Amino acid sequence: MVERAMALGREAESMIRALALISAEEGHLTRLYLTPEHRLAADLVRRWMEEAGLEVSEDALGIVRGRLAPKADGRNAVQRLLIGSHIDTVIDAGAYDGTLGVIAGILAVREVVKKHGRLPFGIDVLAFGDEEGSRFPATLLCSQAVAGRFDPSTLEVESVDGVRLEDALRLYGKDPSQIPAAAYEAGEAAAYVELHIEQGPVLEQAGQALGVVTAIASQSRHSVTVVGEAGHAGTVPMNLRHDALAAAAEITLAVEDLARRNADDFMVATIGKMSLSPGASNVIPARVVFTVDLRSQTDARRIDAMNWLREEILAIARRRKVTAWIERTHEAEARPCDPALQAGFARAIGGEGKAIHLPSGAGHDGQAVGMLCPIGMLFVRCRGGISHNPAEFAAVRDMGQAIAALIKFIENFDPSALAR
Ligand code: GLV
Ligand code: MN
Ligand code: MN
Repeated sequence: MVERAMALGREAESMIRALALISAEEGHLTRLYLTPEHRLAADLVRRWMEEAGLEVSEDALGIVRGRLAPKADGRNAVQRLLIGSHIDTVIDAGAYDGTLGVIAGILAVREVVKKHGRLPFGIDVLAFGDEEGSRFPATLLCSQAVAGRFDPSTLEVESVDGVRLEDALRLYGKDPSQIPAAAYEAGEAAAYVELHIEQGPVLEQAGQALGVVTAIASQSRHSVTVVGEAGHAGTVPMNLRHDALAAAAEITLAVEDLARRNADDFMVATIGKMSLSPGASNVIPARVVFTVDLRSQTDARRIDAMNWLREEILAIARRRKVTAWIERTHEAEARPCDPALQAGFARAIGGEGKAIHLPSGAGHDGQAVGMLCPIGMLFVRCRGGISHNPAEFAAVRDMGQAIAALIKFIENFDPSALAR
């Protein structure tokens, strides 16, 4: 069994390496939603799914779906177990975030088919395309669509390269009017599960390869614009300036302080992107646009924090005689993992009493799919807890153990045991 798990881990590693070569930039991994790189990765995933014996389709958002039909006489023949993750990446990414979950799903289902043929329930392996939100300001669009929660107004959002989502979909060969067909029927999805690297240090510090996720944190992203006045860097006295960047800097520190004050709810806040104009060393900045990514374990704490921040931004702007406004671009509620699915993963990794349980600060597709059906997640240790960084790394042995656990989980999965 250990041998078999190691072989699966090695296979996963070589597939992860193959996907990591599909990038917009040589020597760096950047694979954004609806780009030529996404197309190539989706085609490779399709091939792997077909080789694993799955029937593959692609919907109007580009989700690749590998389907295993249930036994014809299966007791739960209308119900499907969904297993998924994403094949998009952040800019200059690591190779494991998302791709491991898709590959693990393919390999696990292949092994289950080899051993048992069809099961009493169906299985869909899903490769989502926009979990990161690195190209379009909105995110989790694919998983929202699967849950029947795609908001058509999102078709108007513009990518970082200035393309409307609707146009990007058409360029990718898709018909946006068909998006509703990506959704599952009520009662069709029994559960959604995802295997993912932890992206944090907890498992490594505990000396454990795997952990069961209890919940995914509440998250929102906003875009903040500060407008001041351009002026000559050598002539405008400091007390007469309307410096948009100085205001943005004060806001940045307020954001950091806000999260620190709410550390008991695991609040974290990040300004990961900022642009200023006109952008010259001898011109006072006139306009700054930046993102605020704020997460907390509970929705109420996150919402209170954003309300406070909105007021604080306006107060800073007033004091500094600039104008500022804030727009929400993404919001995902905290999503608890289903207790029965947590227990299923705990048993699969070798003991309900012994398994580590931990929350996820990172966002995942399950957050959106959770509006459709119960969700469960299994985390895999990653070196140094490093993620969203080219140094991201998970060991072959750990990945092999995780895939073996996913196989066990599938073998013991019983849709009728889930509370609905
Ligand atoms: C996705 O990786 C996120 O949590 O931002
Ligand atoms: Mn991810
Ligand atoms: Mn990520």
